[in-house]
Amino acid sequence: MAGDLSVELAPHYKGGLRLRNPVMAASGAIGYGTEYADLLDRDRLGAIVSPSITLRPRKGHPQPRVAEAPAGILSAIGVQNIGLRALVDEKAPMWATWSVPVLVSIAGVSPEEYGALAAGLDGMEGVAGLEVNLTPVLNEFPGSADAAYAAHVTRLVRQATTLPVLVKLSLDMGDVLQVAQAVEEAGADALTVTNAVAGMVIDIRRRRPALGGVLGGLSGPALKPLALRAVYQTAQRVSIPVVGCGGIGSAADALEFLMAGATAVQVGTAILADPQAPVRIIAGIDAFLQREGAAGIYEIIGAARH
Ligand SMILES: Cc1cc2nc3c(=O)[nH]c(=O)nc-3n(C[C@H](O)[C@H](O)[C@H](O)COP(=O)(O)O)c2cc1C
Repeated sequence: MAGDLSVELAPHYKGGLRLRNPVMAASGAIGYGTEYADLLDRDRLGAIVSPSITLRPRKGHPQPRVAEAPAGILSAIGVQNIGLRALVDEKAPMWATWSVPVLVSIAGVSPEEYGALAAGLDGMEGVAGLEVNLTPVLNEFPGSADAAYAAHVTRLVRQATTLPVLVKLSLDMGDVLQVAQAVEEAGADALTVTNAVAGMVIDIRRRRPALGGVLGGLSGPALKPLALRAVYQTAQRVSIPVVGCGGIGSAADALEFLMAGATAVQVGTAILADPQAPVRIIAGIDAFLQREGAAGIYEIIGAARH
């Protein structure tokens, strides 16, 4: 018999953002939610995050976009997406009929683009919240990595929307704790820690970078210890919920993040290999809580810090 695994992601937001369980599909992991319809029962998930969208559609980087890395993958998608208009016209009305909440990830090349995206999605039925991807084009815009920029973007988004706002950080942002604090002060409801970390693979036969986008984001198991540490430290520094992300592929991985202080977790790369991974993880968390005789999910959250 499944216990109550529900968590609250936006306790300070007027309507809250309650998830039926703490396991989300990370941005980019299952597209707009329809692509994996036959492979994954989406209604079992806590929430889905859309791929990052921009004001205009983007074709993304040339192929190849994914390369193998030790214990993970390196990907350079280049923020390929359908753009705000198509999302509003085609995807949001479909999501409005789903029981799983869908958060829209937004990305911009300027703070104003983030603000415009937030305004365009405000009050949209089918959109349960926003996730601000602060580092979509980090390689192209290195200046976007500092706390002042992050706070400015967060403030513009906050002013433009009544939706719950998650802000997704990256370990490439220098002092992540400083950024986290700045983003909390600027009005974020929750943080997602972390995005993929910039890395590189070289194809020695071609004597060229292996990816069309040259640099890529490292994700998968290789990222897990780094992400876990960042979550542990961030959750201590801020009072808003932290969503853990990075290399989570099993219930044990997810439990580590929850015990480090994450209120929820996101699964990305593991879904590419096994679309059922999130469902397995949810069942595994539930089984663990029962085995341990835990009073509920909140007994586990932050348990490693006490
Ligand atoms: C193919 C692919 C596409 C991704 N697309 C996005 C995206 O559009 N926006 C975003 O914020 N993160 C994106 N990510 C990053 C993931 O959401 C996640 O933060 C990262 O991969 C670390 O988690 P993981 O190790 O579980 O994959 C993408 C990752 C992959 C592998």
